Amino acid sequence: MHHLHFETIDSTNTYLKDNYQSHEDMTFVSADHQTKGRGRSGRIWHDDEKKDLMFSLLLKDELLLDKFGSVSIVSAYTILEVLKEYSDKDITIKWPNDVYVDGKKICGILLEAVSDDRLKCLVVGIGVNLNSVEFNNEYLRTPTSLKLETGKDIDIEEFQSKVFDKLNDNLKKLKDGHDFYEEISKHDYLKNQEAYCLIKGNKEKIKIIGIDSDYSLKIIRNDEVTSISSGEISFHI
Ligand code: BTN
Repeated sequence: MHHLHFETIDSTNTYLKDNYQSHEDMTFVSADHQTKGRGRSGRIWHDDEKKDLMFSLLLKDELLLDKFGSVSIVSAYTILEVLKEYSDKDITIKWPNDVYVDGKKICGILLEAVSDDRLKCLVVGIGVNLNSVEFNNEYLRTPTSLKLETGKDIDIEEFQSKVFDKLNDNLKKLKDGHDFYEEISKHDYLKNQEAYCLIKGNKEKIKIIGIDSDYSLKIIRNDEVTSISSGEISFHI
């Protein structure tokens, strides 16, 4: 496990995507502030300097490179586990990889792959709202932070070190074939919900059954049970 910290950087994900060749597998890159923080679907990830946790993790091990969906959801589950050490509120995973507290987003994950003729590495970018109390992110519902949920100032370094240790452990377990499905499905935010989703540009109403054993999302669409993998749709409850 290696750790590199920047006071200011454009984006820890961009840094690792551009410099993956000079870093080893399991390199963590964190920052106090990002000037071009990126979210999913081209959104901007804003931050107030030194308030929240922002980092990216480089994965180069062949055993994880083709496990995009599992890496993504196990990373979210890892953040959930650490958050549970701070709060006993209802903490859930919104498939494919957001973490929610009492229905409000507290963590977002941007998983990216770098490839030329073959897949070279994965970069797992994670942002957790720890001490922010105001948010500029472009999301439909107001997010939350651990400070807002607990009423306490959160020590970023302490939280970060718990996350790094647990991610290290959980990704090792994933390589060893551990199945996280039982744990993850207990914390499934979307389970049994009805949602409006955008499938290939068309807005449709679907019924969500929940996260499946292969970490895809099982839904009922046009009276048929089908599975979707991350990135295929965006939806609102
Ligand atoms: C989302 O919910 O849209 C994903 C947000 C991911 C933000 C993190 S912060 C660290 C890393 N660097 C980035 O530019 N983005 C990710």
